[in-house]
Amino acid sequence: MPTAKVRKAVFPAAGLGTRFLPATKAQPKEMLPLVDKPIIQYGVEEAIQSGITNIIMVTGRGKSAIEDHFDVSFELEHLLETRKKKELLALVRQVSDLINIAYTRQKEARGLGHAVLCARELVGGEPFATVLADDVIDAETPCIRQLLDIYEFFSAPVLAVMEVPPESISAYGCIDAEPVSHNGSKNKVYRIRDLVEKPKASEAPSNLAIIGRYILTPDIFDSIDKVEAGAGGEIQLTDALKYQLRSRPIYAFKFDGKRYDAGDKLGFLKATVEFAMRRHDLGGPFREYLKGLKL
Ligand code: UTP
Repeated sequence: MPTAKVRKAVFPAAGLGTRFLPATKAQPKEMLPLVDKPIIQYGVEEAIQSGITNIIMVTGRGKSAIEDHFDVSFELEHLLETRKKKELLALVRQVSDLINIAYTRQKEARGLGHAVLCARELVGGEPFATVLADDVIDAETPCIRQLLDIYEFFSAPVLAVMEVPPESISAYGCIDAEPVSHNGSKNKVYRIRDLVEKPKASEAPSNLAIIGRYILTPDIFDSIDKVEAGAGGEIQLTDALKYQLRSRPIYAFKFDGKRYDAGDKLGFLKATVEFAMRRHDLGGPFREYLKGLKL
């Protein structure tokens, strides 16, 4: 049977963003701007560049700014039009023209697994990408595209992983896996043996951490249904994947590119500085400014 094409991407965006308080008390962390673009727009653009045609956002209370951002803003467009601000008008229109987005709500923040489950009806019976927008990834080939290539080859779910120092592994889901040769390379693709959520450094089966990009198959929904809530009453996606592993192989891919944890204050600052330095319009003067700082 040919591998079903991935058309949809789920963006769980209903988390509380407690690591970014107080900024996230009344606004979604997904709308914090990296230079001048909200974090979530980077993820949406990555999905589009990867060939995704439908986006499903899982939002919650206090997240309406996300819907407004991707919607048409008549007043703003009218104002820019009458003031003849053509470039700004094009910029604003480009955001609402990006792609069709469907929204669903997670009524309570009951964990990432539960957020994905909330998209079940909109996803239907097809494979889908999942994007945690606060992981911003800078890559020549968009990260989702890289994962899709592996998915299409192995016809199985694929998780993006990266190597992290031992002292950091306890902040991530971690995989126990064996390398699989693919395209002449022996240390990019792994077949997963087991998964552990946030292990202690001494108990981690590897230094390979799961980050916020996944290609999932629709049977994951039954697995999420089966798993019990873990620490803090949250239903973990890692636990559901562990359950799914009983019935089908799951792969991990060490993607090419740099990932920034923009949901964390330090990660956000690093991304801001690096993205600003790369900008044609800001990079020069910003670099000069940084050079002048007494570090
Ligand atoms: P995080 O682990 O970053 O959690 O969630 P968080 O709640 O958003 O932020 P902190 O840790 O309190 O600062 C990873 C992704 O899963 C989504 C988040 O929106 C984020 O994209 N998520 C998490 C949900 O959609 N619902 C949840 O119940 C939990």
